[in-house]
Amino acid sequence: MSLMNNLSTSMISSSSSAFLAPISFNSRTQSVAVPPKIINIVRCVSTPQEQQTTYKTNVSRNANISKLQAGYLFPEVARRRAAHLLKYPNAQVISLGIGDTTEPIPDVITSAMAKRSHGLSTLEGYSGYGAEQGEKALRAALASTFYGNLGIEEDDIFVSDGAKCDISRLQVVFGSNVTMAVQDPSYPAYVDSSVIMGQTGQFQKDVEKYADIEYMRCTPENGFFPDLSTVARTDIIFFCSPNNPTGAAATRDQLTRLVKFAKDNGSIIVYDSAYALYISDDKPRSIFEIPGAKEVAIETASFSKYAGFTGVRLGWTVVPKQLLFSDGFPVAKDFNRIVCTCFNGASNISQAGGLACLSPEGLEAMQEVIGFYKENTKIIVETFNSLGFKVYGGQNAPYVWVHFPGRNSWDVFSEILEKTHIVTTPGSGFGPGGEGFIRVSAFGHRENVLEACRRFKQLYN
Ligand SMILES: Cc1ncc(COP(=O)(O)O)c(C=O)c1O
Repeated sequence: MSLMNNLSTSMISSSSSAFLAPISFNSRTQSVAVPPKIINIVRCVSTPQEQQTTYKTNVSRNANISKLQAGYLFPEVARRRAAHLLKYPNAQVISLGIGDTTEPIPDVITSAMAKRSHGLSTLEGYSGYGAEQGEKALRAALASTFYGNLGIEEDDIFVSDGAKCDISRLQVVFGSNVTMAVQDPSYPAYVDSSVIMGQTGQFQKDVEKYADIEYMRCTPENGFFPDLSTVARTDIIFFCSPNNPTGAAATRDQLTRLVKFAKDNGSIIVYDSAYALYISDDKPRSIFEIPGAKEVAIETASFSKYAGFTGVRLGWTVVPKQLLFSDGFPVAKDFNRIVCTCFNGASNISQAGGLACLSPEGLEAMQEVIGFYKENTKIIVETFNSLGFKVYGGQNAPYVWVHFPGRNSWDVFSEILEKTHIVTTPGSGFGPGGEGFIRVSAFGHRENVLEACRRFKQLYN
């Protein structure tokens, strides 16, 4: 009741000057009033010609990196946000774009990190380099908390500084001679890291795709699960569930078909479960719930969206010892080699935080954080539904996927930013299958989400 009451109360004030008013919001723990944010804008201006250096090294640019289109999606969204602020310096910009968390980290978790941090100032508590694979206690807690009865063991788990970093490290393991498939639309790190590794051909402007990547179309028509009968065999299949950006979580039956497809083709699935704890129905939270998955899948996961660790940095990747390359060599041994070469282990302070996340109090606190964002999701879904839009996702993910049929995603992004000062993410930034959609993130202070919904109603009513 209070949710919708809050929503309608906040909508009473609908004058556009409210956009410029100071905001007050209720954080989950306390009521705080904040003055309009003073944002230090870094102006990106090109260097005057005479100051430009004419000296060039003899090193040629990595041809694979030069294949990448424009910037990585989220820096591009941030660039447009900064340009908007230059145009409207007093605008109360609300960001429901990038998908960064906003709510404070629960005290039970920060206290453990503070304790570990202070301990570093003592002889007994000091520790330097740790095991590259992560601390034993954390690996054991991850194994029992998330994979208790799934046959995943402590030494199958590699603790990391986040899922994105592990996606790239996995790409280094695979090298440049593999082929890959992605859901279309999908989180951009899979495609971009694949391009950088040289697994792809050039970007083809007419179809908005890189050559040699298999784009597995995921649309409302196929329930956001690809028609595997039309998907070509690739070595690697990136699959994210709950999906960023569509918010769709795959069913047990769909994942069973995916595992069978991988096994039939001798492919490896890289399963991104960064949002698994947002699942509120009986859909699988891990690919390893599917029988046989240990022989074909790797799973990467993260504390970022559960505990507000986007800045703290902590994640993990499961590479089961049963997963073998075609010559019988364990994938985990090569991953271990890359981790030892390219990474020196997650921060010991972050790992103390991770361990606290997995204590009974920590798990409860994370559920509370997730519950808060899911309430935001409900408010956003409600709003777009009431405006007559077709809305997807939201139920098992902190993302709402809104359909603007026949319209260009960047145009809708610009229209929303220009007219409401709200930053969203254009669906086409996640692949050509995202054209005509906008992703609205539920990561935000409640008051900002309510205010954003009020503005959406003003714009589209
Ligand atoms: C699907 C998906 N995977 C991975 C990540 C990155 O997570 P991390 O912060 O652990 O690097 C994100 C972040 O938004 C994501 O959406």
